[in-house]
Amino acid sequence: MQWKRRLAIGVLSLGILVGCATTGERMATKEKSLYDRLGGKPAITAVVDDFTARVAADRRINRFFANTDVPAFKAKLVDQICEASGGPCKYTGKDMKTAHAGMGVTDADFNALVEDLVATLDKFKVPEKEKGELLGALGPMRKDIVTR
Ligand code: HEM
Repeated sequence: MQWKRRLAIGVLSLGILVGCATTGERMATKEKSLYDRLGGKPAITAVVDDFTARVAADRRINRFFANTDVPAFKAKLVDQICEASGGPCKYTGKDMKTAHAGMGVTDADFNALVEDLVATLDKFKVPEKEKGELLGALGPMRKDIVTR
């Protein structure tokens, strides 16, 4: 009987061991959200600050923002990026089609803005992977923003 008990305990221990190992593996491979990898709300706020300063200085596109309430615009942008990257925020601004309707934004304007954003992300040394994911989340908005 003794050997049967030993065998049962052995099998049970092995089961627990394998169970723990696979759970641990799953926990180790579960990736953090883009929001967390970017550095959360403080990092996103810093990115939006630098980015909007670049846009304001960018003579290719700054005319679009001549009458913009910049602090309010920044707050909306932070919420939008925070939400789109899996963070805890809720964007309550207009949808992209409504927000940019009638502006006559061209592909060149859109590209200029993306260039400014990339310059900011490079300045903050955002890794290629996270940079790609963020641009990938914003890219599909082009069809609603570019109207000319
Ligand atoms: C992926 C690219 C873009 C994103 C994520 C984006 C995002 C936004 C957001 C969140 C708003 C605020 C909407 C609201 O007021 O409720 C906004 C407004 C605006 N966007 Fe964009 N935008 C993009 C591209 C562009 C481009 C390319 C231009 C022009 C060059 C542009 C010009 C404007 C202007 C002028 C406003 C109105 C600001 C105001 O209230 O005065 N946007 N955009």
